Amino acid sequence: MDLTLHVWRQERGEAAGRLVRYEARGVSPDMSFLEMIDTVNEGLIERGERPIEFGHDCREGICGSCGMMINGEAHGPWRLTAACQLHMRAFRDGDTITIEPWRSRAFPVLQDLVVDRSAFDRIIEAGGYVSVNTGEAPEASSIPVPKENADDAFDAATCIGCGACVAQCPNGAAQLFTAAKVAHLGLLPQGQPERYGRVVAMVEEMESRGFGACSNFRECQAVCPKGISIDWIARMNRDYLKAKLQGRRKPALAG
Ligand code: SF4
Ligand code: FES
Repeated sequence: MDLTLHVWRQERGEAAGRLVRYEARGVSPDMSFLEMIDTVNEGLIERGERPIEFGHDCREGICGSCGMMINGEAHGPWRLTAACQLHMRAFRDGDTITIEPWRSRAFPVLQDLVVDRSAFDRIIEAGGYVSVNTGEAPEASSIPVPKENADDAFDAATCIGCGACVAQCPNGAAQLFTAAKVAHLGLLPQGQPERYGRVVAMVEEMESRGFGACSNFRECQAVCPKGISIDWIARMNRDYLKAKLQGRRKPALAG
């Protein structure tokens, strides 16, 4: 396939950026989207030009670092698929593809398609710790966990922190990510002692980081590569309200 790309190029965060046109020739439908960019970069390097910067690590849909807007959709046209697992058979010969970084006040552009998602790290940090007794590893079955809770906690824990939910939301809200992180600990017995302090700390950290408010567009759920449900947002809001009614404060660790 021969494709025309319009790729966002930005030298560094504070510099002005612009879309630059590239031709990608002889693209195999079996290539991944990132491999297609790799081949464009090989051509740029051969010509002595700066290659396109983009985030990637696992290329298996696990690490969350490959986020980019592809024709206006976070991670591109395939549902439940991170950009690294998108394949070029999703496109047709002659297509034009626009590739941009996440657009969010809370995720400033570092270079080209790479954004700073450290605001997510701060939200996780604010969640603090889980109380456990130290010493020898406990007997695995000493804390019974209902199957349904274990399954739900695992589903919430599949969030890879990619930021697509924020990028696609017209408000730039981070509720889906934060709710998933709140839920996977808050559902398990080990997460109960700090459950209400944790939700207050994480929600208030999220609100301080420049993310927008959630107004139920549901775009986040539609583009999430891991299928995280907006039901977790309702659960987070219930826990937050309960915590506030009980006068819970942020745990000291969260500062
Ligand atoms: S909730 Fe989904 S879209 Fe948002 S950061 Fe987690 S995996 Fe990515
Ligand atoms: S490169 Fe790790 S999720 Fe895409």
